[in-house]
Parts: sequence; structure tokens; C-alpha cells
Amino acid sequence: MERHIQVLLNRLSCASITIATMTLLLLFIQTPQTCIPPNSPPKPHLKFPKSSCEFSHRELQPLEKKNKRLWSTKDWQKKVSSYTQFFFSLRDLDLLNNRTRVLCVSAGAGHEVMALSEMGVKDVTGVELVDSPPLVRRADPHNLPFFDGVFDMAFSGHFEEALIPSRFVAEMERTVRPGGVCVLAVGECSEEEVWEIAGLFRKSRFVGAMNVTLIGLKMTRIIMRIRIPP
Ligand SMILES: *[C@@H]1O[C@H](CO)[C@@H](O)[C@H](O)[C@H]1NC(C)=O
Ligand SMILES: *[C@@H]1O[C@H](CO)[C@@H](O)[C@H](O)[C@H]1NC(C)=O
Repeated sequence: MERHIQVLLNRLSCASITIATMTLLLLFIQTPQTCIPPNSPPKPHLKFPKSSCEFSHRELQPLEKKNKRLWSTKDWQKKVSSYTQFFFSLRDLDLLNNRTRVLCVSAGAGHEVMALSEMGVKDVTGVELVDSPPLVRRADPHNLPFFDGVFDMAFSGHFEEALIPSRFVAEMERTVRPGGVCVLAVGECSEEEVWEIAGLFRKSRFVGAMNVTLIGLKMTRIIMRIRIPP
């Protein structure tokens, strides 16, 4: 009788070890599925993805708080609304709508990304040497981590900070599809300077230049359209 119980107990503990092992294995296997892989699609989520493994809850909290604080400042809101006006002018030219896939190069802290998203543009990607999640991811404007022709529009308000202007422009042109547009906002320039900048675009034709006020600065908006190969 006692021996019988011993055998039963042994079996039970065997079973519970098996269950524990399987649970651990399952946990081990399943955890990565709930994570956002580091190379997930470059969509700007206005709300930070809650399930990302890259940020523990301890880190997530200050980031959300920091963004909330930053985004509620007068300066932030003024800049975003200035960019919104700027992009509405592109919409009025039929260059932008809700389905336009837009890349913002050297997007800084992401004012333009937020402006576009709030306007209803669904697919906006912002890149900068230093990332500002969730609006802007890290990428070198001289070596963009995107395939050829995946965007309808590339925009930059920080072209003048480019280390190698020709390379910066070439990467914008490469990632925009034929027929798509590249838009620069640069410090106000003369006609000659506009031609100089437009001349850097090897695969595009000049659409137009116009003096505008953007984030309180006098700037010139230059629009180029990627040529469609014959
Ligand atoms: C996007 O769609 C909304 C309504 O569906 C419209 O109000 C808004 O102006 C559109 N934005 C653009 C950029 O076309
Ligand atoms: C923009 O303003 C500058 C300086 O006033 C002027 O030289 C240039 O021609 C203007 N550009 C356009 C496109 O109106």
C-alpha cells in the first residue's frame, strides 16, 4: 500500500515538473511574439506601442510623460500649426492627400510628422540622426534605410544642415517613386540659389519655388518632381 502511494507521488511530481517545463518553454517561445521587432514598419504611432519590449514600463512612463509635456508647450503647438499650414498649401496644389506616403527627412523632434498625422495623412515616416519616439526614428539622411520608390513625397525643412547636400538630395530622390515629389523648405533664397539647389536633383524636374513663412522664418519652398523614365 505504502509503495503504491510512493509510485503515485513520484508520478505526480514527474507530471508537475513536465508541466512547469512546458509552461516555461511556452513563455519563452511566446514572449517575442508580443514584442515589436526593431525593424517593424516605420509607421509613426502617435501613441507609443504598449507592447514594445524595447522599453520597460519604467522607461515607458517617463517617455510618455516627457512627450506629453513637450507636445503641450506653446512653442511645439505653434510650430506644428505652422507646418500644418505649409502642408495644406501642398494639398491645395494636389501634391498631398490622406493616402500620400510621406517621408520627412531630418525631421528633428517631429513637428512636421505630427502636423501631417493630425491632418489625416495615414502613412508618415520621420527620420533623424537622433530618434524621438514615437514620431521620429533614427536614420542617416545620407543613407536612408528604405527601398527605392517607396514614398510619394519626401520633405525636408533641414536640408541646409546636410553634410553632403548632393547625397542628401540623391537619397530623397531614390526613395520617392517616379512621378512623386521632393519638397524642400530652405532659408529664403535668391533665384540663383534656387537654381543651385534644384541642380542637385539629378532625377527630377523643377516644379516651382515660392517664398513662404514657416515656423516664423522666411523660407523658400522648392518643389521637384521625379521624372518618369520613358
Ligand atoms: C483627410 O481626410 C479628412 C476627412 O476624411 C479631411 O478633413 C482632411 O482634410 C484630409 N486631409 C488631407 C491632407 O487631405
Ligand atoms: C524670395 O525672396 C528673395 C529675397 O527677397 C528674392 O530674391 C526671391 O526672388 C524670392 N523668390 C521667389 C520665388 O519669389
